[in-house]
Amino acid sequence: MAEVVIVSSPEDAGTLVAAEIVRLVGRDPQAVLGLATGSTPLPVYRALRKQAAGVDLSGVRGFALDEYVGIAPEHPESYASVIRREVVEPLGLDPKLVHVPDGDPERIAVSGEEYERAIEAAGGVDLQILGIGTDGHLGFNEPGSSFASRTRVKTLTAQTRRDNARFFPSLDDVPRHCITQGLGTILRARHLVLLAFGAGKAAAVAGAVEGPLTASLPASAIQLHPHATVVVDEEAASQLRMAEYYRYAWENKPAGQGL
Ligand code: PGA
Repeated sequence: MAEVVIVSSPEDAGTLVAAEIVRLVGRDPQAVLGLATGSTPLPVYRALRKQAAGVDLSGVRGFALDEYVGIAPEHPESYASVIRREVVEPLGLDPKLVHVPDGDPERIAVSGEEYERAIEAAGGVDLQILGIGTDGHLGFNEPGSSFASRTRVKTLTAQTRRDNARFFPSLDDVPRHCITQGLGTILRARHLVLLAFGAGKAAAVAGAVEGPLTASLPASAIQLHPHATVVVDEEAASQLRMAEYYRYAWENKPAGQGL
């Protein structure tokens, strides 16, 4: 099962996950990070900026989870722009080493497989940061996505488009399609770190961690992974039946193990 860590704030979650990334980069300065966008991972990137003050991140490689189809990479809300603004520039990563799927509609038939090959050529993702959608999506793998899926085009659900409308002038401006790493792609990363904050994520988190394994709740795929960590605040943990056990296990975790 996933290790569930219940923290008191997104800031505490950010500190914890950033420390794990610093440890990873300490072991391997060319570590491969799987990068998520959205609001959830921001505390991780902020904490990493502080904790990595004396650490050289210039060799770190990165692969974003997903990208919209049909908006240009220069658009401020394309994930290429978001990753550059929120991750690459503040952390001083080398932009040449950080990749985002190509959402150009003209290339969509080939860009998914190209992305898969690029991840493989990099030796795979060491640590994959993940958010979770209110509909249980992982990356942009909407309900029904195959657990074996690879990077490909998907149609966003109405719920995801509403959730993401806050980043666009209006709901109509939110793209209808995306290119996303598949669940099968995500499951090949060596360590999954899923974060979720707020009561709006509680049902999706409970389904992902404790619910049946089902493509109807794509994040339940983490139950198939040998090393998955779920870091949640109290609100996002509020529907977990085994919360007391998770707290007990975390408090009694052997020292020095990290996440
Ligand atoms: P959020 O998105 O972090 O903006 O809530 C999470 C997701 O859709 O995976």
